[in-house]
Formats: sequence, structure tokens, C-alpha cells
Amino acid sequence: MGSILVSGGAGFVGSFLCEALLDRGEHVVCLDNLQTGSLGNILHLVPNERFLFSAQDVELPLSAFNDIEQIYNLACPASPVHYQNDPIRTLRTNVIGAINILELARRTGARVLQASTSEVYGDPEIHPQSEGYRGSVTSFGPRACYDEGKRAAETLFHDYCKMYDVDIRIARIFNTYGPNMAGSDGRVVSNFIMQALSGQPITIYGEGKQTRSFCYVTDLVEGLIRLMNAGPHMRQPCNLGNPTETTIRELAEHVIEATGSSSELQFLPLPQDDPIRRRPDISLAFKNLGWQPTTHLPEGLARTVEYFESHQQQRPRAMTQPSRGGPIVGRLFTDSLHVAAGEQQMRRLHPDSAQLRSNGRKPNGHAGKDADSDRIGFNSN
Ligand SMILES: NC(=O)c1ccc[n+]([C@@H]2O[C@H](COP(=O)([O-])OP(=O)(O)OC[C@H]3O[C@@H](n4cnc5c(N)ncnc54)[C@H](O)[C@@H]3O)[C@@H](O)[C@H]2O)c1
Repeated sequence: MGSILVSGGAGFVGSFLCEALLDRGEHVVCLDNLQTGSLGNILHLVPNERFLFSAQDVELPLSAFNDIEQIYNLACPASPVHYQNDPIRTLRTNVIGAINILELARRTGARVLQASTSEVYGDPEIHPQSEGYRGSVTSFGPRACYDEGKRAAETLFHDYCKMYDVDIRIARIFNTYGPNMAGSDGRVVSNFIMQALSGQPITIYGEGKQTRSFCYVTDLVEGLIRLMNAGPHMRQPCNLGNPTETTIRELAEHVIEATGSSSELQFLPLPQDDPIRRRPDISLAFKNLGWQPTTHLPEGLARTVEYFESHQQQRPRAMTQPSRGGPIVGRLFTDSLHVAAGEQQMRRLHPDSAQLRSNGRKPNGHAGKDADSDRIGFNSN
């Protein structure tokens, strides 16, 4: 039985995906450079002997991986704060990362799913957005590195399918929220919760009338897995998101209720290229995958607030210098309070790379010369 590779698996969505795949009995290889992800998100998975963590950058060739049956390509910072911090790197991750992932799929015969985004529709002129809508986008603005990077990645997937018959799936993901989001990365749900919990004003851009559709993370993960396992008729982009539209102001009010906060609302100017409305048409997913979100916003927010209340103080986030990949170093810290120490130690021992696995055995799907000759196994203790 081959493995499933999840690139970006230590991130918010990726960590839930790895867990869901392990729960289904799969062998999972989580590849991540920890740019915006965190070891804290995956520590609880490490004792599972079917789980392996590989600290590597998707911008580097993935020649060490073999025996892979499926690949989910999630590696890319998703929040504007991070993807605009180094826009050229964001484009590189999307384009070079997609090529490396597709080459791996071509070599191993793995089916490959791209985590695309509703941002490919830009600031849409039609609502809701169905997959046939070509979008209202700009190649020249602060969000373009992400939007155009994701569009280019979709094109690469299309062309690898056409030229090399790579078995592709493309999920156009709309706003997703839940536990494991970083509190400081500028996403609206985590921002509002952090502000509410600390009693600071909740900052709303514009008048708060712009809408988003918020999908709870476990609903999204179920959709990703169903899309991956659908037949070849689903080799086309497929929207995954919650079709219930919520204004940003309503979201702020829900957050105040969920946290019991006395925070006030503060209105700031709308940033450039911020879409006014966003709502998925999910009829393709509903018809072909039997999928639709089932978690209502107040329920999902309550779980997310609980996570932020109990974890956010302790959780370290992005490594300042993301790993580029290579031989492994370090030890595994099983206590989340020690994750920061673990990340620091790995950086100190080997600034460019780290790999972590749950036990000494060679897991399926990760073999090759750097994979086993150069690295040290991590025994959970
Ligand atoms: N969360 C959402 O609302 C949303 C919406 C649309 C699309 N998406 C897409 O889903 C994917 C996951 O999003 P997320 O919200 O979990 O974001 P995230 O930032 O929490 O996760 C991304 C992960 O990719 C890793 N990564 C980034 N660059 C990398 C590189 N060059 N090599 C290896 N790993 C790298 C990060 O360290 C992180 O763990 C992204 O591709 C994102 O574009 C997410």
C-alpha cells in the first residue's frame, strides 16, 4: 500500500487533512517547510506509525519520494500577511512547487490534487461564482502574487494532464476557518477572535457590508478527500466552500457572542483589491461528490474560540527561516509546550532542514538516498 503525500501538511488545513487520512487507515507523508505551518499542529499525529513528517520545501525537486499513491498540494501561505510578505517567493512556491509536485505525480503515477482558491475569481462580477466563471482579476497588484500564482498552477495541472496524462483534481477552496489557524496571520476569523479575546476593538475594513462564506475546516477536508477519490470526470476545477453568505459585520457580531467579549467595532479603510462579495456555487460538488458543508457558523466559531482560548498562548507559529529540505536533525518533543524548543533546536542543529518521523521504521512512500541513508529517525518519547 503506497502513501499519501500532503504538502503543506503542517498548516491549518493540512494538519486536519493528515489527521483525517490517518483516521481512514492511510499512510501519510506530511511535507512542509514550516513557513507558516507549525509542528504544534501535527505533534499529536507523530506517535502514529503511519505518519511521517518531512521538512522540505516544494520549490526543491522531490526526487527522494517513491511509492506515493496520492498527493494533496497545499504548500503555499494562504493569508495575505504572509503571501504578500515575499510576493516573489509566493509566486515561486505556486509555480515551481506545482511543477515539482506534478513531476513527482508523473514519475510515481500518483493522483494529485491542487489546493486552488476562490481568489482565482478575483473581485467577481457575478454571484454566486460557479467554476465556469473566468474571474475579474488583475496581474498587477498586491494580491496578484497569490491569485496569479494559483491561476498559473491550475494551468500547469491542466497541461500536465493533457500532455502526460497525470491524473489531476483541482479544488477551488473558499474561506475556511477553524482550530489550528494562526492567530497573527491576518485572516478575518482569527483576527476577530484574537481581538475579542483580548478585549481590543474588532477592526472591520470598510463598512463591514462585504460578504464572505465561511466553511468549517472539517467540512472542507471531507470535500477534499471526496474530490480526490472521485472518478476521472472530476479532472476539472471544483468549488469547495460554504454557500451561506455572511457580512463581515455579522461575523464580528457572531464572534462577540461566541467569546462573550465587550469589544467595540472599529471601522478602517478597505484595502486595495479586497473583494466585495464572495460566495461559491457548489452544485458541481453536491451533484458529483454528494458534498455540502454541515457545520453552522455559530457551532464552528464556538469550537474555534475554544481552541484559541486553550492553545493560542502556547503555540509557536512560523519559523523565521523556513526549512529548504535535506537530511534530518533534532529530537521530537511530544509536549506541545516544548514545540518552540524543538523548533529552535532543529534550527540550531541544522538551519536548513529537519525531518521528523514517528518511529524508526522506514515508512511507505519516502525512500531514496537522502531519505534513509542521511537521516536520523525520531523516536517519540
Ligand atoms: N484556508 C483557507 O481559507 C484557504 C482558502 C483558499 C485556498 N486555500 C489553500 O489551501 C492551502 C492550505 O491553506 P492553509 O489555510 O492551511 O494555509 P497555511 O499557511 O496554514 O498552510 C500552508 C502550509 O504550507 C507550508 N508551505 C508554504 N510554503 C511552502 C513551501 N515552499 N514548501 C513547503 N511547504 C510550504 C506552510 O508552512 C504551511 O504549513 C493553501 O494552498 C491555500 O492557498 C486555503
